[in-house]
Amino acid sequence: MIRKKVIAGNWKMNKTAADGAALAKDICTEIGRETGVDIVLCPPFTALESVGRTLEGMAIKLGAQNMHPEKNGAFTGEVAAEMLRTLYVTHVILGHSERRAYFGETDALINQKVLAALANELRPILCVGETLAEREANQTLAVVQRQIEGALAGVKPEQAISVIVAYEPVWAIGTGKVATTAQAQEVHAFIRGLLGKLHGTAAAQKVRLLYGGSMKPANAAELLAQPDIDGGLVGGASLEARSFVELVRAAVAAR
Ligand code: PGA
Repeated sequence: MIRKKVIAGNWKMNKTAADGAALAKDICTEIGRETGVDIVLCPPFTALESVGRTLEGMAIKLGAQNMHPEKNGAFTGEVAAEMLRTLYVTHVILGHSERRAYFGETDALINQKVLAALANELRPILCVGETLAEREANQTLAVVQRQIEGALAGVKPEQAISVIVAYEPVWAIGTGKVATTAQAQEVHAFIRGLLGKLHGTAAAQKVRLLYGGSMKPANAAELLAQPDIDGGLVGGASLEARSFVELVRAAVAAR
């Protein structure tokens, strides 16, 4: 089974509308028409429009970093699926560990968001991963299982194939401490097996599983060569055109 690799840039709370458009323009100059891998840029809400305009006519897709599950209403400070769709957003990061840790997001809430995204034809990039304490207590697989089963409750097999899952060990995010390829591959294989139990092996074979956590040009090739690692969700290294482009090129080479 050949799964198309995905490199997604999670800009987090970085880049103004103008700075984001400039970064997107630099990325487009190098790899704007690359179709060998799926490329997604996820700027903050305030830069979606300017970045989206820069990506017009390019092969690069636009993603948001969060979304509210309701259609509209009295939810001050929140953004709904339709609002994203009208800005040509196709992907949405859901359940990032920073949202879980700093904004109290639970598996139940993330599940509502996943279902709302799928109902609106947005592809969720669902993030899961254990903390250092959980890994040291040998809880990694149990935590990841609880997060996946919680977030995907009620998702049908035909919908499950459009979900992208990002395994991001919390202790590796923004720390420079990358998981070893063996650690990452072990969890990715476990996730694919679990998806097989939930949605059938055929569906599980189609789902793209990304690694996230200090992915850099220097460690990408080895991670991307693993049988169950289908790409990366990249934070720090996505904020600069040169390193992001190098990551995309590593994914092209790893096809
Ligand atoms: P990092 O972030 O690449 O800076 O570790 C990854 C993420 O949080 O998605």
